[in-house]
Amino acid sequence: MASQSLRPLIAPSILSADFARLGEEVAAVARDGETRADWVHVDVMDNHFVPNLTLGLPVVESLRKVADVPLDCHLMIENPDKWAPGYAEAGAYNVTVHAEAAHDPVMLAKNLRAAGAKAGLSVKPGTPLEGHLDTLKHYDTLLVMSVEPGFGGQSFIPDVLEKVRTARRLVDTGHLRLVVEIDGGINADTIEQAAEAGVDCFVAGSAVYGAEDPGRAVAALRDQAAGARPAH
Ligand code: DX5
Ligand code: ZN
Repeated sequence: MASQSLRPLIAPSILSADFARLGEEVAAVARDGETRADWVHVDVMDNHFVPNLTLGLPVVESLRKVADVPLDCHLMIENPDKWAPGYAEAGAYNVTVHAEAAHDPVMLAKNLRAAGAKAGLSVKPGTPLEGHLDTLKHYDTLLVMSVEPGFGGQSFIPDVLEKVRTARRLVDTGHLRLVVEIDGGINADTIEQAAEAGVDCFVAGSAVYGAEDPGRAVAALRDQAAGARPAH
């Protein structure tokens, strides 16, 4: 029976990092030991799917050269069918596309995997899981958005935990094989309820890069999540 990953995964989002010092900011959470991030979350926004513009493929290619942590690319873009495989080819560990934007998500997952990445599917807070359950059989990660995508530092929307519980149940009963990931408003006040609901991987932007010591923040969040997980 599939079950939760052995320990909670923490993925700092560089959206809240200093873009002029990205290499150093990633290095701050990439040192060996408990302060090391499991994945580094890279938010790609195109100013069409979301009303904000961040970074794209050249930055991911550069980060890949300096960072020896798995890159978790979250594409908040239109037409991911066309653009997402390039991120897999650039060496991203996991490439997540939005269910609301993908035209042929099953084919897209196959293309991402063929290019050597894990395939991730994300749902906005208002998007139900039900219409995507068959599609998720082709994916490796499910990214449940717990804020409206577009900006860091927003408040956690607890209603989305119902989707986390559904996904957790489907994974634990062997119907899906997915890493359940959550993104938006995760911090010391909210991570425990997300862990209790069954999240495997926690994205945290402002809670990590807004902290004085980002590495210590990673370790503290992981400890908190580990303490709140349901027993198996
Ligand atoms: C929002 C992004 C998130 C963001 C999270 O659209 O997808 O990854 O960086 O930031 P916090 O943790 O501050 O909510
Ligand atoms: Zn994100």
